[in-house]
Amino acid sequence: MIASESIQEIQGLYASDGASRPWADNEEHNHILLKEYIGLLVSEDILPKPENASGYVVYSPSSNQAFYEHEFARHLDNAISKLPKNSRKLNKPPLFIAADVFGERKLGFVDRILLKLGAQNRRGRFVPGFSRRRFTGKDLRYVKFGKISADAAHIPLLNDTVDVVWDRLGALWHAQDSRIYQTKDGERTMRFYDPGDDLVKRILGEYERVLKPGGCVVVDAYKLSAFLGTPNSTFDMLNIFSIRVNLRELGWDVSNFIGEGNSRLAVLKPIQKS
Ligand SMILES: C[S@@+](CC[C@H](N)C(=O)[O-])C[C@H]1O[C@@H](n2cnc3c(N)ncnc32)[C@H](O)[C@@H]1O
Repeated sequence: MIASESIQEIQGLYASDGASRPWADNEEHNHILLKEYIGLLVSEDILPKPENASGYVVYSPSSNQAFYEHEFARHLDNAISKLPKNSRKLNKPPLFIAADVFGERKLGFVDRILLKLGAQNRRGRFVPGFSRRRFTGKDLRYVKFGKISADAAHIPLLNDTVDVVWDRLGALWHAQDSRIYQTKDGERTMRFYDPGDDLVKRILGEYERVLKPGGCVVVDAYKLSAFLGTPNSTFDMLNIFSIRVNLRELGWDVSNFIGEGNSRLAVLKPIQKS
């Protein structure tokens, strides 16, 4: 589990008034990337074809305001709406879960009843999350879309339930950021000095646990970052700057990249589940 002081640091970076705020990223840049990401994910069947979408599950552990996730879901929803009328209702609607380590935990009536009955720990419950009413998923007809508050190192899902984990500049990136995580002897180190190796391993372990056989994790692996304030991608943080984390030794196939430049992505597959 992520340490409480680390959550405070992350909230310091991403919260205002106790709720998550949109990450300070350039709007125009997001829209350009979005188009490129959708093209790549569709061409690799990482966003499934509508006729194969029944029961498909996408989990985004660090979605912030869920801009990308919601648009991916909308793209699939549109594609399903173009199927012949009688095949649009899929057996099991595809599900997109946009999570983040924090979100405004608004209490629903079920939560209130549970708390009255003495429930102490609502960790892992599906909560509305996030203050803004953007990207609620209410406009989607064939795809289910939900937001939850959860730590990527402690995912409230059963084993073998997810087709794709999408982690762009999120939990895995932050797990290597020494502004947030400390070395074992308690001293903060220079950035890129791999202070969070243990956390990285636990997060990757969780991703592997929740993936279905054949599933994959997609992380950013950009080579140019003209628009980004972040010089190094999640993949480079893990693979180049990391001293103690070796993805291959941890059982991940890291040989598959899609896209170029700013939209380049790495598709990581746990060999045990391939
Ligand atoms: C730079 S933002 C990226 C947001 C989004 N993925 C995107 O591409 O726009 C990083 C997000 O990661 C979240 N985060 C950091 N560590 C996390 C963890 N251990 N579990 C879940 N979310 C985490 C932060 O709260 C923040 O919203």
